[in-house]
Amino acid sequence: MKILFVCLGNICRSPMAEMIFKNLVRKKSLEKKFVISSAGISSEEEGNDIYPLAKQILKEKEIPIEKRCARKITQEDIQNFDYIVVMEEYQKKRILQDFSISKDKVCTLNEKDVSDPWYSGDFKTAYEEIYEGCKNLLDKIIKSYEL
Ligand code: 4NP
Repeated sequence: MKILFVCLGNICRSPMAEMIFKNLVRKKSLEKKFVISSAGISSEEEGNDIYPLAKQILKEKEIPIEKRCARKITQEDIQNFDYIVVMEEYQKKRILQDFSISKDKVCTLNEKDVSDPWYSGDFKTAYEEIYEGCKNLLDKIIKSYEL
């Protein structure tokens, strides 16, 4: 199962989701069944590391952080990944507009948009929303695909 988490800049929410989801998968010893990555719909932050305050909350929660840098989603990603999981409804609309993709391949992490910590400064709330979404998503995948 190949999952790509997507936000706007790929320095806060989607890399947090990537690291959180990888950790949940690791805890269930399912690493071999998954490819997990993240990207942004904007190229604004391309090449940049995870934002320091996002790193800090992941460290506080003892989530391992891999070395990575921000990148923009490509048509190749759309082909390669089974699911594109976005943080906000408008990001889903943008992907459906900008890429050739079947509608059921792209979904939001939660029913409600994940709050944007870049503007709010509230990384704790974003972490909690992302953690809850990742936990529910993994449970759903394990049930649906009998992993
Ligand atoms: P992210 O946060 O989409 O969660 O990575 C943002 C990062 C950068 C910007 C906006 C949101 N920006 O406008 O540069």
